[in-house]
Amino acid sequence: MRAIRQFAFGGPEVLRLEEVPDPHPGCGEVRIRVESAGVHLLDTVIRQGGGGPRAASRLPMTPGREVAGVIDEVGSDVETNLIGQRVVADLGPTGGGYAELAPAQVASIHVIPDDVDADSAVAMVGTGRTAMAILELAAPTADDVVLITAAAGGIGTLLVQAAHAVGATVVGVAGGPNKVALVDRTGADHAVDYSRSDWPDAVREALADRPVTLALDGVGGAIGRGALELLGVAGRLVMFGSSSGSLTELSAGDLFGRGISAGSAVGARILQRPGGIRTLELSALEAVSSRRLIPLIGRRFALADAAAAHVALQSRATTGKTVLRP
Ligand SMILES: NC(=O)c1ccc[n+]([C@@H]2O[C@H](COP(=O)([O-])OP(=O)(O)OC[C@H]3O[C@@H](n4cnc5c(N)ncnc54)[C@H](OP(=O)(O)O)[C@@H]3O)[C@@H](O)[C@H]2O)c1
Repeated sequence: MRAIRQFAFGGPEVLRLEEVPDPHPGCGEVRIRVESAGVHLLDTVIRQGGGGPRAASRLPMTPGREVAGVIDEVGSDVETNLIGQRVVADLGPTGGGYAELAPAQVASIHVIPDDVDADSAVAMVGTGRTAMAILELAAPTADDVVLITAAAGGIGTLLVQAAHAVGATVVGVAGGPNKVALVDRTGADHAVDYSRSDWPDAVREALADRPVTLALDGVGGAIGRGALELLGVAGRLVMFGSSSGSLTELSAGDLFGRGISAGSAVGARILQRPGGIRTLELSALEAVSSRRLIPLIGRRFALADAAAAHVALQSRATTGKTVLRP
């Protein structure tokens, strides 16, 4: 089979397309003939040797943690009637998804609903799952004024739809006019370009000085700080990432002064929630099947172009979810 192999940590050029022996599923595993593989900003960090405990830092490796496709082989202890099933799986830190064939633990797979395509299933098993965790913690209501950063991104486009669906006033902020136009189309009441230095004023103006009650932020750094500053008294900040490279700086004084609450919706919180990760994945897939959420697939790259997909993510040139099509 063809797979992306990585023999060193470094820039996108370390991702090499190679012909390698077909993998075979071990005990408790199935083999998925991959139709769609998810690509993440985190993958670009892992590629460079970062990523902490979520990373498979042992080389050589095949990156990629989300795959959707058809089971074509099962381990000796696995029911053969699974062969032919369309499934989606999060492969976990060991990866192996940027490939034509990927072994997966039986316990990690979900049958894809008939009306959900492979790209959408891949978008929901990881990115959608995180969106579900954010929504669970944030619990937006019709009374909220919700500010969403990187609102044209994979998680951002889902959060805009979900906040709009509960009747909240939605402010989506993103970098550049094309992304702002997309946020507008996704259902935000107000879309603001935060590549403008005066973007917080533009948000205040759009809201006619109505305070933001809930900020959902995966960017961190100065943008996350700007989102925090826009929160009114008793506002809530839910953090889920730091794509800018640094977390949002906040102090006890920030929380104490305005009675703000802040929390993180990712990491240990997801792992330890009742029902764990799996029920979040199921509800993410169900949300697509029932058309409550529609994942935006921004760009589809050929497997051979995995490096180009990484470049696009790192240069902020993507919208929605980015996938590889082996
Ligand atoms: N997807 C998941 O499963 C998952 C799970 C846990 C945590 N997270 C975190 O949640 C955040 C959003 O994830 P996502 O998958 O939905 O990503 P994404 O929004 O599709 O992509 C990241 C976006 O962050 C913004 N950004 C700001 N500064 C950036 C920089 N220096 N480099 C690259 N991007 C930058 C860009 O949007 P603008 O150009 O509009 O600023 C970019 O498009 C990330 O911090 C991610 O690490 C994601």
